[in-house]
Amino acid sequence: MSTSAEPGRTWPLVGRAAELDDLDDLLSTAADGVGVTVLLEGEAGVGKTSLVDALRGSARLLDVELRTAQATAVRSWPFALLSDALLVRSSAGGGGHGPGRSPVETELADLLDAIYADPARSGARFDRATELFAALLRRHGDVRPWALVLEDVHEADAPSLAVLLQLAREGAVPRALVVLTMRPVPYRPELAELVAAWTRAGARYLELRPLNARATVELAENLVGGPVGPSLRGTLATTGGNPRLVADVVRTARAAGALVASDGVLDSTGSRWMDPLDEVVRRRVEYLGADVLALLGQASVLGTSFVIADLASLAGDPVADCWRTLRHGLAAGVVRARGDRLVFGHDLVREALYNGLDPDQRRALHARAAWALRQAGAPSQIVTGHLERAR
Ligand SMILES: Nc1ncnc2c1ncn2[C@@H]1O[C@H](COP(=O)(O)OP(=O)(O)OP(=O)(O)O)[C@@H](O)[C@H]1O
Ligand SMILES: [Mg+2]
Repeated sequence: MSTSAEPGRTWPLVGRAAELDDLDDLLSTAADGVGVTVLLEGEAGVGKTSLVDALRGSARLLDVELRTAQATAVRSWPFALLSDALLVRSSAGGGGHGPGRSPVETELADLLDAIYADPARSGARFDRATELFAALLRRHGDVRPWALVLEDVHEADAPSLAVLLQLAREGAVPRALVVLTMRPVPYRPELAELVAAWTRAGARYLELRPLNARATVELAENLVGGPVGPSLRGTLATTGGNPRLVADVVRTARAAGALVASDGVLDSTGSRWMDPLDEVVRRRVEYLGADVLALLGQASVLGTSFVIADLASLAGDPVADCWRTLRHGLAAGVVRARGDRLVFGHDLVREALYNGLDPDQRRALHARAAWALRQAGAPSQIVTGHLERAR
């Protein structure tokens, strides 16, 4: 199964020369017969899929077989991820018991049929399938080196993770580059255990960071096909360098007819594209869950950066409870910690959450914020600002 390309992808990738070089080097190492494992982590939309997609070309050049599969919440049945990577072939054999399957693959396919038919009685079959998948992965490189990209393992089915855990305890997969991509949230204990085991086994950890300011503008310019003007740059600056949000900004402005050309640059005009943009952005963070979003919505009233104790008084919860809820937002990169302050990673997200508050609730929050900030000794003009917005 191939990973899913999003509309709006530009090629070549912007601002990722160093990461591409790193991955290419690791692929060459695998092509020379050495096993390498890479854990590629980064916030939603930062470009993990785009980066590993770029391995396709290099794999072809080096004559390394590339197998990929992507975990999704809807394909969560036992061993779904590894079956997608190892058992389904687009060419020879098809999806069934066709030609081109080794005895191990055939046994595995039969076992999986039996497991799916009767999950309740599958204990021993699970163990056997785990063993066979591990053997398949270890031996796959006997013929020639290969690369295995398993995307979004934070969503992976538990039995596939168990196979990967077992492999980690035996060291790198021989003659293979194994790349596991993941978002930092949702947190799953079995994934944390897997990451720890691979770390002990010497896996490389690659954190994919947001694009810098120059690359952010360059990506937008690639998407619109020319230089962009100051107003659009202003909105781009609120994306925190997240390529998916950059693409959202450009696409939404264009769809609303808000991009106009003048003096050789394309720029955004008017504000009619702002509501649709807020909606798109709110959908992008929905995966954080209602509790986290509710607290971040309250935080949005305090501004781009805020003191956690003030948020706690605003929310009427103990500071420790706020941290517990916000830890998911922190892991996701939506907010970043700076001492006892938190800063929204993408002001675009803060604005979208703020604009998504019910107007009555927003006024009430400003009133509470005025009270909390006054108690905390904030300057009077800040308190007054909140009181004005409480009306
Ligand atoms: N370096 C880049 N240059 C140009 N476009 C990029 C770059 N990185 C990502 N994009 C674009 O941004 C969007 C999101 O990228 P991608 O799907 O690779 O992110 P992801 O990290 O895999 O996200 P998810 O966490 O949802 O899996 C895509 O449209 C992609 O084409
Ligand atoms: Mg992805």
